[in-house]
Amino acid sequence: MTKTAAILGGGVIGGGWAARFLLMGWDVRVFDPDPEAERKINEVLTNARRSLPGLSDSAMPEEGALSFHDDLAEAVAPADWIQESVPERLEIKHKVFADVQAACRMDAIIGSSTSGFKPSELQEGAQRPEQIVVTHPFNPVYLLPLIELVPSPANDASFVQRAKDVLTSIGCFPLHVRKEIDAHIADRFLEAVWREALWLIKDGIATTEEIDEAIRMGFGLRWAQMGLFETYRIAGGEAGMKHFIEQFGPCLSWPWTKLMDVPELTDELVDTIASQSDAQSGMHSIRELERIRDTNLVAMLRALKAQDYGAGAVLNRSEPAKPALGDTSAPIVTVHRAVPLDWTDYNGHMNEARYLQAFGDATDRFMEMIGCDADYIASGGSYFTVETHIRHLDETHAGTRIRVETQVLQGQGKKMHLFHRMFDGDRLLSTGEHMLIHVSLETRRAAEPSADIAKTLSAIAAAHASLPRPEGAGAAVGVR
Ligand SMILES: NC(=O)c1ccc[n+]([C@@H]2O[C@H](COP(=O)([O-])OP(=O)(O)OC[C@H]3O[C@@H](n4cnc5c(N)ncnc54)[C@H](O)[C@@H]3O)[C@@H](O)[C@H]2O)c1
Repeated sequence: MTKTAAILGGGVIGGGWAARFLLMGWDVRVFDPDPEAERKINEVLTNARRSLPGLSDSAMPEEGALSFHDDLAEAVAPADWIQESVPERLEIKHKVFADVQAACRMDAIIGSSTSGFKPSELQEGAQRPEQIVVTHPFNPVYLLPLIELVPSPANDASFVQRAKDVLTSIGCFPLHVRKEIDAHIADRFLEAVWREALWLIKDGIATTEEIDEAIRMGFGLRWAQMGLFETYRIAGGEAGMKHFIEQFGPCLSWPWTKLMDVPELTDELVDTIASQSDAQSGMHSIRELERIRDTNLVAMLRALKAQDYGAGAVLNRSEPAKPALGDTSAPIVTVHRAVPLDWTDYNGHMNEARYLQAFGDATDRFMEMIGCDADYIASGGSYFTVETHIRHLDETHAGTRIRVETQVLQGQGKKMHLFHRMFDGDRLLSTGEHMLIHVSLETRRAAEPSADIAKTLSAIAAAHASLPRPEGAGAAVGVR
C-alpha cells in the first residue's frame, strides 16, 4: 500500500527528504510558503533521479505522486510521516508543530530535521509531545543513509521502533541517539573539526583548499569506510587500541589543537575564508558542485556496496528483490534496474562495457533461475560464455530504468544459446546474444549439466521455441 509523507519546508533538506520518500515509492505532499519551493524541489529531484535509483542492482519501486499545498493542514492530514525541515529557529518550529498537531493523524510520526535542538525542547508546549522526535539527516538526504534518531523520555519504545522501521524501509540507517544532547552526535564532531580549521586559516597556516586536501587525500577516505575508532584500532597495530591511546593520548594535552577555544569571526577572517573558497571552487556553480558530489558519492557507495561494508552494507540490506522466474511462455525478465551514474561515459550515455555487464548480469540471473546458482557452481559445474554479440540500437542515460528480457534460442545438452533484449519501457535499446557451454570446473572441459538443470532449461527452450525468432538473432557484425 502506498504510504504518504508530508514535507514541511522544502529547502535544501526538505527537498532531499521529498526526493528520498518519492523515489522509494511514497506519495509526497509539500508545504512551503516560498513561491520558489516547487522549482527548488524539482531541481533537487532531477539530481536525485540521476543518482539514487542506480545505487540498487534491482529496480526500486515506481515513484510516488508529488503534490504541493498552500495549506499546512491539507498537506499533513493523510500523512503517515511528517518531516519538519523549516529554518532552525525554535519559535518557528513550535508554531509549525502546533499547526501540525491540530490537523494530523494521531498515529502519524512527526520527525524534525533540526541540527541542534534537543527533542525535549521541540516538544515543549506541544499538544502530544510523544508524537515528535528528532530525525536529523545529512545532505544530500537522498544519498546518505545516516539519520540521527533522537527521542526524549516522552517518546515510548514502540514509537521509536516504528520510526526506525520506517526509516529503514526508505533505505536510511537510523542511529538511535540514546541520550539527548545539543547538536546530537555527528554535528558536535563536525563542529570540532570546523573550529580547528578556522584557527588554521586565521593563523595563516593553511588555506581552505589545503585544509580540504588534508582531508580528502587521506583520512577522509579512511573515515568514509571505517569511521574513527576502527581506523585507530588498525593504527595501533597488533598491540591494538590500548597501545594507540597510550601512544597518542598524551598529545591531547599538548598544544596540538585549540579545540577548547573558538576564533572570533571578524570581518577579516570571514573575507579571507570567502575569497579562498572562491579561488578554490568558484569556477563551479552550486548545482555543478552538487552533481560532482553526487557522482563521487555514488561511485564510493557502490564500491562499499560491493564490499558489503559500512554504508554499502546498508544499501545491500535495502536492495529490492531481483526478478523471479515467472511465466516461461514469454521472454523472461532477468534484469530490471536503473543505470547507475558510474556506468556512463564522457558522452553522457552508457559505456559499451556496461552493456556487456548488464547482459552478463542477465545471463547470471538466468543461470540462477535454472538452478546454476552459487551452490551448484561450488559443486563443480558452470556455464562459460564462448561468444557474445552486442548491438547498440539507441542511447541509454544514467537513471534510465532498463529491463532485459531473455529468450532461450537453444537449451539442449551442453549448449545454452541466449538472446537478451534491453528495453526502456517499449524502446529497444540494445540486444545481446550469448552462446554458453556447460563445463566441469574440475576438468575445465565441456560437460553435461545436472539432470535438474537440463530438464528446467529444455522446458524453457521448448516453450520459447514457439516465440518468433528475435530480429537480429544470429546476425553477423555490421548486418542490421
Ligand atoms: N543544510 C544542512 O546541511 C542541514 C543538515 C541537516 C539538518 N538541517 C536542518 O534542516 C532544517 C532546514 O534547513 P535547510 O538547510 O533546509 O534550510 P533552508 O533555508 O534551505 O530551507 C528552509 C525552508 O523552510 C521554508 N519555511 C520557512 N518557514 C516555514 C514554515 N512556517 N512552514 C513551512 N516551511 C517554511 C522556507 O521557505 C525554506 O524553503 C533546519 O532545522 C536545519 O538545522 C540542515
